[in-house]
Amino acid sequence: MKVVSTAEELQKATSSPDSTPLGFVPTMGALHRGHITLVRNAAGLCRKVVVSIYVNPTQFNDQDDLKNYPRTLDDDLQLLSPVLRENDIVFTPDDKEIYPVKDRRVFHFGNLENVMEALHRPGHFNGVAQVVSRLFEIVKPDIAIFGQKDFQQLAVIKELVRQTGNKVKIIDNPIVREDDGLAMSSRNRLLSQSIRKKAGIIYKTISAAASMINEHDIPYLISYVKKNIERAEGFSVEYFEIVDDIELKPVSARCEMKKENKYFGCIAVKAGNIRLIDNIEIPL
Ligand code: PAJ
Repeated sequence: MKVVSTAEELQKATSSPDSTPLGFVPTMGALHRGHITLVRNAAGLCRKVVVSIYVNPTQFNDQDDLKNYPRTLDDDLQLLSPVLRENDIVFTPDDKEIYPVKDRRVFHFGNLENVMEALHRPGHFNGVAQVVSRLFEIVKPDIAIFGQKDFQQLAVIKELVRQTGNKVKIIDNPIVREDDGLAMSSRNRLLSQSIRKKAGIIYKTISAAASMINEHDIPYLISYVKKNIERAEGFSVEYFEIVDDIELKPVSARCEMKKENKYFGCIAVKAGNIRLIDNIEIPL
């Protein structure tokens, strides 16, 4: 694999005829097996793959979170090297490369801006849209792969691609989990040992809620999830919502759920002082 840090070098490395289809996996580094699954998926689909590693400041609404975000470039390259092929590329731009001038663009995503992460992290998705559209402009991928772990981000990116008319094909990758069910995340390494030991309760609880949909209505499930997770010391639920997978409109009663739609239970939890998100399909 080649490691490049400027758009010019990247474009040179992707201009040869063996570069299509070109696959792209954007990341913020601190890579784990979840990211690596996306990269393997891209390598299976594409002749050349670009993995970007860039901690995007415009998507952090909390400056402490940005400061504490793990940065582990050497380890990241070690994890990528057995997966990427000789001609694949790791793109590690700096802030000037991505934002030569301040990005003042404001995006609108309809209802996606009015629910869940958008309410709890104001400005977050605008920053995600800024960086992803800028990365698409530099990389010009045919296929880009995103994880279902960031369920709302995936919906925002699909809407961004629709609005901009970009021809890139967006592919979803299922959530990759630890043995105890905790969704892999770069932030997991920031959890204290005692919190980490208990963190499997998040997935265990939302799985149980998903399996109860035919016996209990939604308000019960929401209160069950909150109570069960908060029994673990140091855990507090920010939200648990059941939403459709297109507009992400929360449903408040089972009778609002339509057989032809898909629904997901989405959760954000404060585990100690670390914020974790996860989701699960709610089968009808
Ligand atoms: P990051 O959190 O590094 O995630 C990069 C990609 O990996 C995202 O598509 C995310 O959904 C996926 N991912 C992370 N953990 C996963 C897991 N356990 N299972 C499956 N996929 C997983 O998401 C971002 O970075 C940024 O917002 C980015 C899109 C790069 C823009 O800055």
